[in-house]
Amino acid sequence: MQEKYIFGMIGLGTMGRNLLLNMGDHGFRVCGFDRDPQKVTQLEREFNNNESVRGFNHLSEFVSALDRPRAIMMLVPAGAPVDDVIKEITPLLDKGDLLIDGGNSHFVDTARRAKELRESGIHFFGMGISGGQDGARNGPSMMPGGDPVAYRTVQSLFETVAAKVDRKPCVTYIGPGGSGHFVKMVHNGIEYAVMQIIAETYEMLHKGLGLQGDEIHDIFAAWNEGRLKSYLMEITRDILAYRERGTFHLLLEDIKDEAKSKGTGKWTSQVAMEIQVPVPTIDIAVSMRDLSSYKNLRIASSVRYASPAAIGADTKPFLVQLEQALYFATIIAYAQGMHLLSRASEVFHYNLKLDKIALIWRGGCIIRSAFLDEIFRAYQQNPGLIHLMLDQKVASLLKASEQSMRTVVSTATASGVAIPAYASALSYFDTIRSEHMPTNLIQAQRDYFGAHTYERVDKEGVFHTDWLQREH
Ligand code: 6PG
Repeated sequence: MQEKYIFGMIGLGTMGRNLLLNMGDHGFRVCGFDRDPQKVTQLEREFNNNESVRGFNHLSEFVSALDRPRAIMMLVPAGAPVDDVIKEITPLLDKGDLLIDGGNSHFVDTARRAKELRESGIHFFGMGISGGQDGARNGPSMMPGGDPVAYRTVQSLFETVAAKVDRKPCVTYIGPGGSGHFVKMVHNGIEYAVMQIIAETYEMLHKGLGLQGDEIHDIFAAWNEGRLKSYLMEITRDILAYRERGTFHLLLEDIKDEAKSKGTGKWTSQVAMEIQVPVPTIDIAVSMRDLSSYKNLRIASSVRYASPAAIGADTKPFLVQLEQALYFATIIAYAQGMHLLSRASEVFHYNLKLDKIALIWRGGCIIRSAFLDEIFRAYQQNPGLIHLMLDQKVASLLKASEQSMRTVVSTATASGVAIPAYASALSYFDTIRSEHMPTNLIQAQRDYFGAHTYERVDKEGVFHTDWLQREH
């Protein structure tokens, strides 16, 4: 009898195929299913038609080829396709089988699906996977959430194929229900914020200081050798050197400035608003992608409000300050994301281990960076840390860059270069360190026009004032 496969993948697109090939490379017998015969052929061809990686066109054949209890991952587009696959495959599964959604599903959908499948005795996992196709092929960062007992059946497989940093795998059990997808969503929120911060940095260098591609490439290359080292800095450096064959200008210059998105950044902002955890730098990153698509409006406004966007500063000292400001803004972006995770852990009873999350983000994923070592250290030293900005070492890093951050934000703003993510990060910092906010005035205004009442600093109770002092 033919030996069975230990793991199955539904959806042999780029991610699914590469993850299976990664598993095959590590000697696991794995198989995949896709309705498209070409994708099945491509999978088997890329693994040299070796028996240990097999593709199927028929769902029932695929399911019967798997060892029981079965472990099956779906890598299909988020939304209705996930529900469609679940509906089709559930009658073919047995109690105790494990179904994993490895896509970027919304965590609320994941929690619902886990609950629905529990009734049929099937374990369901929502697992965030980060790292794009290279990550899937050579080692991604993975964020699985669901039943911890079911996780044990796939733990060693995932630990083997995950990215490694200091020989530690970039995968860990995250928590119950939709927590794996929640953590991946926040990962993407941070991703959006850091990408926006880097884009604004490019704007200051290019439009503000008038530097050209090669010069900007060298700056990112040098910064990426230091504490700013990260995957997103590395790819930015490479993009700033890429010319299509036969051309003398950067491909970047030919790319439309209208950014698309698939929704995970927006979801991060939405849930942050719902549970009242401010993440303004992530919000602004989402808004700026949206604003970028209003091309005609921007063209019309640029004619009406033409401004000389040149930064009036000496390049050399400004670059030193910009490196520090970039570091400052990046720290704030991560701090907002971690704050959201820490609060969501309480609200949704996820019991998240923030140190472990930082640990598995150090490799394989899009937001991997040298700074994650600091985040890991901070939460390991103090698992109850309320906010990353309260960690002593992080505070000293922020303080050391604070003056440069102010200079960069004020200089760029005075010159008319748009740097909303930088500005939001600085204002967030300034607000969070304010014992007193001007929100007493907001309370007074609310009470003035709507009798919404207010509380006082000098006595207990709830008060309302007749602000016009009308005679009764
Ligand atoms: C990752 C990425 C990935 C994300 C894409 C596109 O961690 O590998 O976060 O999952 O979906 O990068 O995201 P947008 O289309 O929303 O930019």
